[in-house]
Amino acid sequence: MKNEAEIWAKLREVAKRMFINPFEASEDAEFRKALLWVLDFPLVPVKVDTVERAILMGRIRDTGRDSFSNDHTPFDEARQRKFWQDNKDTMTAYLFRHPESWEAVAYSATLLRDGKYYTSNAVLPAWRGRGYGKAVLHFIVNIVEHDCWATALLTNKAARREHNIVDWEQVVVDEIGGLVHFHTWRGRK
Ligand SMILES: CC(C)(COP(=O)(O)OP(=O)(O)OC[C@H]1O[C@@H](n2cnc3c(N)ncnc32)[C@H](O)[C@@H]1OP(=O)(O)O)[C@@H](O)C(=O)NCCC(=O)NCCS
Repeated sequence: MKNEAEIWAKLREVAKRMFINPFEASEDAEFRKALLWVLDFPLVPVKVDTVERAILMGRIRDTGRDSFSNDHTPFDEARQRKFWQDNKDTMTAYLFRHPESWEAVAYSATLLRDGKYYTSNAVLPAWRGRGYGKAVLHFIVNIVEHDCWATALLTNKAARREHNIVDWEQVVVDEIGGLVHFHTWRGRK
């Protein structure tokens, strides 16, 4: 007889395999909530696999663009469509819906730039400070097979802190450029 922790670990593993789109397929909010509870995860992940979802992701991104470490310019719909065309074959991205309101409140993604995968994530302003940023970042670095890099503004405290020590190693603090660079531990294995 396995102990309780092992059973929960197994259940989480099974639920993770079901994870992605069965969630969406279910219209039963109670089922979704139960599955999230098993997974110990607060939001419903939805894979960004259509241009419409990429556009929604772009809208969430734009609410936080001033806090990003490099590109602060807005993405209108046409630009986001182009972004989708240019990146869809190398990007892994998810939207995260609130299990009750069903609003897409956050996204996280890995983007291939100069041979490295960089993460990007944002949470809608009204939903910040509830652990969602940290959760969606943890989700994306654990669902991809590759290691990831990230850059945060030195002044962006929430962005720095969401790169938690379980997943991330802080590799460089660039005081002059005002940036902090992170790398996932997996890349060190
Ligand atoms: C960065 C961002 C995604 C964080 O999302 P969030 O849901 O607000 O963050 P969380 O609630 O998960 O908190 C993550 C950590 O930051 C801390 N934090 C959250 N808001 C903070 C704030 N305003 N000031 C200082 N620390 C803060 C939390 O305490 C937590 O740290 P802890 O685990 O050590 O306690 C969100 O602020 C955002 O969308 N910002 C705009 C876009 C952006 O900056 N993206 C990151 C680019 S690198």
